[in-house]
Amino acid sequence: MMSTWVLLVIVALIILFLFVLTPPRHPHEIRSAPFWVTLLPILFDIDQQQIFEQYIAAPLYEHGAIKVFFGGRWNIIVERPEYISEVLKREQIYNKSGNQKKIPHSVLADFLEIHVLGAGSNIISARDEEWRCYRTIIKPGLQKVFDTKPIVDNAEKLCETFRQMQGQSMRKGIPIQEILQRYSSANLLCCIFHCPELGSQMMSMEHEVLLHTTQLTLKRYLFRPIFMNFPALDRLASVIPSRAKARRLIRQFSELLQAELIPSSGKRLQNGENSNCLGDRLRSAWRDGTLNTKQLRDNLNVLYVAGQENPQLLMVSSLYLLGKYPEIQKNLRNEVKDLNISNLCSMDWRSLPYLTATILECLRLLPPISQLINRQVAEPACLGGRIHIPRGTYIGYNSYATNRDPVTWGPDANDFRPERWGSTDEQISKNYRGAKARAEFISFHGGSRACLGEKFALLQMRVTLFVLTRAFRWELDPEWKDQMTPAGPLHPRGVRLVFTKL
Ligand code: HEM
Repeated sequence: MMSTWVLLVIVALIILFLFVLTPPRHPHEIRSAPFWVTLLPILFDIDQQQIFEQYIAAPLYEHGAIKVFFGGRWNIIVERPEYISEVLKREQIYNKSGNQKKIPHSVLADFLEIHVLGAGSNIISARDEEWRCYRTIIKPGLQKVFDTKPIVDNAEKLCETFRQMQGQSMRKGIPIQEILQRYSSANLLCCIFHCPELGSQMMSMEHEVLLHTTQLTLKRYLFRPIFMNFPALDRLASVIPSRAKARRLIRQFSELLQAELIPSSGKRLQNGENSNCLGDRLRSAWRDGTLNTKQLRDNLNVLYVAGQENPQLLMVSSLYLLGKYPEIQKNLRNEVKDLNISNLCSMDWRSLPYLTATILECLRLLPPISQLINRQVAEPACLGGRIHIPRGTYIGYNSYATNRDPVTWGPDANDFRPERWGSTDEQISKNYRGAKARAEFISFHGGSRACLGEKFALLQMRVTLFVLTRAFRWELDPEWKDQMTPAGPLHPRGVRLVFTKL
């Protein structure tokens, strides 16, 4: 009996190895990373940056693309800007394809495209007519003229929180990520969803906010390397308790979001009233039948997560980089410290080029979405006239690699050097627009599917760094181990900073 089981396991392992883990022959023009590289963090103390440098960078830069095993399948990651441009321009060949299509039974698909009510999608993963419909509803809520006051108020409260925490912990570093998560949620709630009460609760740190705690717990269950690489395991919710728990948390999070941001008692959009509020716009589209309940939920989830998680990651990484490179922090402070500002809300940010250049440099070096695999090849394709890609292959980008490509950015591509963007507002804008148009800088994606929240994210970052650099000097806690996350969104893992009041 025993030997039958052993035999079955051996056969299963051979099948797994031959048909799942062995890299596909095509496209034969590029190399493959061994399947086990993304599993290394399960066994060793190694982070994504080290994995990239040791196993991915050389073969990826050599051919501009590489085959990698992720999400239970082999995918192609494209790095070279000309290839990325081609993918972005030829949407009818390189189709957007979200997790629900790629890994439909996974916890990740549940998270951003919940399938309790049947098939659905969201603005990031949809295509063609469906995407245009979502975009018409959502874009005006994200690309309006923002009132800066709530962000300034929240930034001052953020300073107060750092001051108090630093006072209590003496010279020890304080962990910043959870505080910044509350802060970026508060900004999104106040400026985009027009929910100032909930925003204000987020900023009072002693106040427990269920939406925030549920999201925090959920994140701990989502980004585990083993389930990200083998999402088939997510089907085993009955035998793996953590998967059942993740699904429960997802449902709870989504219900909370809807209850808080789209209360059914709210009034319908009339004559453009509240037409700027994203929550109202979604609710109105749902009431008049343009969106069904599932589409409403899926879009709400993705907008809340993208709108708050990405800016939060950028803030964590930026404070980390500025803590690690005190000279640059000092340059930034020199630019902002003596400005006599009567009203930050009417500030002309063009007069602060070093601030803009620093933010762009942080986004270049540590893009919040460092790798993205969300397109499927609809018909056999020949990328760059060289790489023959079979139909059905999944293809994605590694913005971390593209943003640091030495051919584009020079031999100092890995250095933190805001000066590379230019010294005047005109130069910086020109360089930024050019780098985006040539797909050399893809932190906000590009083409017709570029991020709709870029303007809000940059405004928030400007205010945040402006207020923080005037209030404090900070450095990395010398006892904190300088390392990045092992999987999931790339950022310094559990970074702690020591703040000195100015
Ligand atoms: C630093 C902050 C941010 C970064 C780095 C970022 C990055 C990105 C990236 C890489 C994409 C493409 C995703 C994909 O194709 O799968 C994207 C799309 C998108 N982002 Fe952002 N994002 C940020 C902030 C925001 C904010 C604050 C919002 C507001 C809610 C937002 C809303 C969106 C939307 C709606 C799309 C879909 C655009 C479309 O396909 O038409 N993002 N973003």
